Amino acid sequence: MSAFVAVASCVAAPPKDAVMEARIDSLLDLMTLQEKIGQLNQFNTAQFDTLSAAVAQGRVGSIINEVNPEVVNRLQRKAVEESRLGIPLIFARDVIHGFNTVFPIPLGQAATWNPDLVEEAARIAAIEASACGIRWTFSPMIDVSRDARWGRIAESAGEDPLLNERMGVAMIRGYQTDNLADPTAVAACAKHFAGYGYSESGKDYNTTWLPLPLLADVVLPPFEAAANAGVATFMTSFNDINGVPSSGNQWLMRDILRDKWGFDGVLVSDWNAITEMINHGVAADKKAAALLAANAGVDIDMEGHSYPDAMEALVREGKLDENVIDDLVRNVLRLKFRLGLFENPYIDLSKPSPSYSPSHLAAATKAAEESAILLKNNGMLPLGKDVRRIAVIGPMADAPYDQGGTWAPDIQREHSVTPLAALRKLYGEKNVSYSPGVKFTRDISLDGIPEAVKAASEADAVICFLGEEAVMSGEAHCMADLDLKGAQTALLEALDKTGKPLAVVFMAGRPLTIKKENAIADAVLYTFHGGTMAGEALANLLSGKANPSGKLPVTMAKMTGQYPIYYAHKNTGRPPEWTVDLDSIPLEAIQTSTGCTSYYLDAGKDPLYPFGYGLSYTTFDISSPRLSSATLAKRSGEPLTVECTVTNTGDREGQETVQLYVRDMVGSLARPVKELKDFKKISLKPGESQVVSFTLTPAQLAYHGLDGKPIIEPGEFRVWTAGDSASGTPATFTLTEQ
Ligand code: BGC
Repeated sequence: MSAFVAVASCVAAPPKDAVMEARIDSLLDLMTLQEKIGQLNQFNTAQFDTLSAAVAQGRVGSIINEVNPEVVNRLQRKAVEESRLGIPLIFARDVIHGFNTVFPIPLGQAATWNPDLVEEAARIAAIEASACGIRWTFSPMIDVSRDARWGRIAESAGEDPLLNERMGVAMIRGYQTDNLADPTAVAACAKHFAGYGYSESGKDYNTTWLPLPLLADVVLPPFEAAANAGVATFMTSFNDINGVPSSGNQWLMRDILRDKWGFDGVLVSDWNAITEMINHGVAADKKAAALLAANAGVDIDMEGHSYPDAMEALVREGKLDENVIDDLVRNVLRLKFRLGLFENPYIDLSKPSPSYSPSHLAAATKAAEESAILLKNNGMLPLGKDVRRIAVIGPMADAPYDQGGTWAPDIQREHSVTPLAALRKLYGEKNVSYSPGVKFTRDISLDGIPEAVKAASEADAVICFLGEEAVMSGEAHCMADLDLKGAQTALLEALDKTGKPLAVVFMAGRPLTIKKENAIADAVLYTFHGGTMAGEALANLLSGKANPSGKLPVTMAKMTGQYPIYYAHKNTGRPPEWTVDLDSIPLEAIQTSTGCTSYYLDAGKDPLYPFGYGLSYTTFDISSPRLSSATLAKRSGEPLTVECTVTNTGDREGQETVQLYVRDMVGSLARPVKELKDFKKISLKPGESQVVSFTLTPAQLAYHGLDGKPIIEPGEFRVWTAGDSASGTPATFTLTEQ
């Protein structure tokens, strides 16, 4: 079954270093079985005294969640100076979208479609985190996510494999640099391997059923790219795939990850995921769980206690070969050598903290600006010179903690610049009134609405900040209904009655279903929680100091019931050409009068906004694609060049992301109606044109059959160059055998 094609490839993983391998082996020779098992244990710092004693005895290899640099050094001293062999610890943390300087959540970073910016964000996160001793982050999460009910969509790069791949690789580069031994480099972790984004019904930790073509075409490519980019670690996912929990999945962890992709880094379990194989019902007890995981090649048991509690007995009873353990330990030691921890185990406490430096804050502002997606604009934005008095309304206008989003454990809210603060700074305190209307996003009280309406009616323009608190997305924070919570919609409806120009800014952890609010607003700026500088960025965008350039990394549904929804769907045997709306159907209509095609009577066939969509304050024209040839030869090795001309047809400088989509018209298996193959973000001055050029190779047109084997099939393909996944006029080429 290990037949997956290496379609994606980036920087090659570093080759094993012979000197380092010799050091690893000589250290291994000195280790007792207990010390070996110690290297495979990752504990958190909840019980300091117990932990510190265990470290001194060599029974802990890495520590999660300690960010106090003094404590980090103290524990490290225990390991280096008091344990028998002096093997240093690695300190790990979920630095997911920034450390102290919080950047937009990963879904928001993906909305920038700007891998350079994402790499810079990760670099800054690593600099700040490593100053506290963190040399391992559990990021990037590259789980393709097509169901916004799943709270963890916030942590992903959205619905598309290529976007996840590009963003994931950018983060890996930023965290690790090209030298892991640099004291500011942080080992990255490709997670969650694999299929976690497909948790059934968008409910966290749920089961997945994944056929091989879906795994190989959609789920695995970002992970393969991460391995090729030299990611230092991988994490097993909580879910089972077709009944096999990842932490015990030998096929995935050994055949694919180790043998096929040649990964020689560390494979860590997710938190307690080894022991949870008992709950899954594939292991009777910790011993059985530890055996499954060790045989699958899981190197580190994160807070699961199956390895420390059961491994020694497994060896004694002859059920687990000590050689298997040796290999796991080798991987852990290799990471410690690569990180330079043996030479440089401590943090220099005399150095000033790099957190919140002006350059870090400037980068966070830029990332937040580029992550905002302008969904609708009837001309209200940017705010004109005639706008003197602004009413700032809504529960997210001044929510310094919540604008940080999920997985921002090191956010310090006093550093957050909220939209209210930034707008007041820009327009003057007295020109910006503030009335939240509802106190927080789940607040159902209507009591504050009259005051907000009064503030709105006294203003020239109303900006209403709606969305979700940080706690409403992320791990274990799934939702079965994605409409706005509390009295937020009632607030907006009341504001609408003032007749004042009304812009809505959403700050959320996922694409919410905003059909109603979108219809009411004169302008809609959608953001995924933007982090420390979200407010500054939004004030810049609203005022026109910055021009929106974000594009949706996910399809936005009209209604929750449309999920899972994604642009790369199959055509089906009955694609809808026309649809009938439920309300227009006469009483006792005959069954077939609505057509017999694939759509919803209440939601139609389309999303609210397609994947890749986003407006600017200027306009762009993207020409149809021009191809270097009408044919692409499967074996010639000569790629097809696809180019288009992009023109800024408006009167402002702006950035456009040109997206390259392909459709395989006839395959042995039904193929998606479109697949993203590449993209480029460019900046153009008013009136300026630029030719954007892509190449397509036969390997990019490959997909996987039912047996998981790659197929490249001759035939007709269509290709689009467009500003989103729903526009453009395609050109056609033929893939030929020779
Ligand atoms: C999450 C991981 C995370 C780990 C450590 C788990 O619950 O699923 O993504 O890295 O905890 O905090």
